[in-house]
Amino acid sequence: MDQNETPVLTALGEHQKLDRYGFTPPAHRQGRGVDPRVLEVLGEQSFRSDVLASSGLDDRKTSNGYLQRAQELMADAVGAEQTFFSTCGSSLSVKAAILAVTHGEGELLIGRDAHKSVVSALVLGGLQPRWIRPSWDNELKLAHPPTPREVEETWEKYPDASAALIVSPTPYGTCADIEAIVKICHERGKPLIVDEAWGAQLPFHSDTPTWAMSAGADLCVVSVHKMGIGFEQGSVFHLQGDLVDPVRLEHCADILSTTSASTLMYAAMDGWRRQMVQNGHEMIDRTLALTRRVREQIEELPGLHVLEEELTSHEATKDLDILHILVDVSGLGVTGYQAHDWLRENCRLDFGTTDHRRIEITMSIADDESTVQRLMDGLRLLIDAAPGFPASPPVLIPDEGELDLETVMLPRDAFFGPVEDIPVEESVGRIVAELATPYPPGVPVFLPGERINEASIKYLRSGVAAGMVLPDPGDASLRTIRVVKE
Ligand SMILES: Cc1ncc(COP(=O)(O)O)c(C=O)c1O
Repeated sequence: MDQNETPVLTALGEHQKLDRYGFTPPAHRQGRGVDPRVLEVLGEQSFRSDVLASSGLDDRKTSNGYLQRAQELMADAVGAEQTFFSTCGSSLSVKAAILAVTHGEGELLIGRDAHKSVVSALVLGGLQPRWIRPSWDNELKLAHPPTPREVEETWEKYPDASAALIVSPTPYGTCADIEAIVKICHERGKPLIVDEAWGAQLPFHSDTPTWAMSAGADLCVVSVHKMGIGFEQGSVFHLQGDLVDPVRLEHCADILSTTSASTLMYAAMDGWRRQMVQNGHEMIDRTLALTRRVREQIEELPGLHVLEEELTSHEATKDLDILHILVDVSGLGVTGYQAHDWLRENCRLDFGTTDHRRIEITMSIADDESTVQRLMDGLRLLIDAAPGFPASPPVLIPDEGELDLETVMLPRDAFFGPVEDIPVEESVGRIVAELATPYPPGVPVFLPGERINEASIKYLRSGVAAGMVLPDPGDASLRTIRVVKE
């Protein structure tokens, strides 16, 4: 295929040149109706590019197949058999993948470090999760990806599950041995879904960790906006092999999706694919070299430590995506929450995953010497300021096994059944009916259908007191919890 083509992007440029006008949504009519105060912030160009997909970008019958062609080009670029674009984030792609492989019933093997969008699929599909327990690192207090042995043991216990799903890279950049896990699944004739939300760059450079499609995964989900260059919510999912029906997959995405997908997002993904094919290797090369330097420079700063050896030496970690720089700030006597808040307030710098002792920097092909300089200046100022920070209340991090909550009810039944909100002090032993997900990275501590234990409550309450953000419980302060009515 001619990878110089950009069907959606080019059609959008043509649409603008031809001065088309639609008596259709979007009613802003390419910006004509927009309040100038809105235009001042959002710019005219974003509205000019926001057009209807059919009877807008394409004709009424979608005769030109721009989107179809852009998806084919993406599949060709990354070596998948089929690719689908989503404008509802990987959150939609993950749900579509799960519903397609399970047919909306039965059991699914899932790494317990999965993102909360997996839980949405369990609730929507009425599915029984069979958890693959990821290896919990008692020293670092974080979860490593599941090992092939852990996946195999879970299959032995639950051979009737329809598929397995793992997250790799994790939000910490650690990567599972996907090839070995694929082999274990395929020996049983079952598909493997890899949630590679953090892996957009992987197909385009051989010095990055193994890309799920080359490792033989059946389905893989990628957020273009996270590590690629695209608008928020842009996601793609890729398919290969004959274990997943492509038509069913498309139908599952269709029933979850919007009928008004953003052309702006499609066009950006289309252009990013061409950029990656043409220049991706060189750009990622430069970013990897820059990142190696940044990692070394941060490591030299007093009180800061870049995690690398501790992550790669764990048996579960096949590889590390170094673009995730996980910095331990505990040597400064502060928490990751305090460090992040201070850097935002004083240096206008924001970060990704933040926890009781770490902040995470994700590097992108957009970064260069000047952005790295800002980062290093900010970190130096943080080091100077840290001794003046008030003491943070301690976060009571559970030990190994303490967060392995028992699933005693289908997530859907717990979520939709009769519920009550009770004081947190009375919740131990009850079945939870809502999620509690420290964000980022978005891995639920408990989810509907699990029996609450004391360690999880202590962890979440002490975390909230220290600055952890829980966007999903009805009561974010966690004074009350929604549980299944007894
Ligand atoms: C592992 C993982 N999967 C899926 C998602 C959902 O991605 P999106 O934000 O594109 O909906 C995220 C988002 O943080 C994630 O970390």
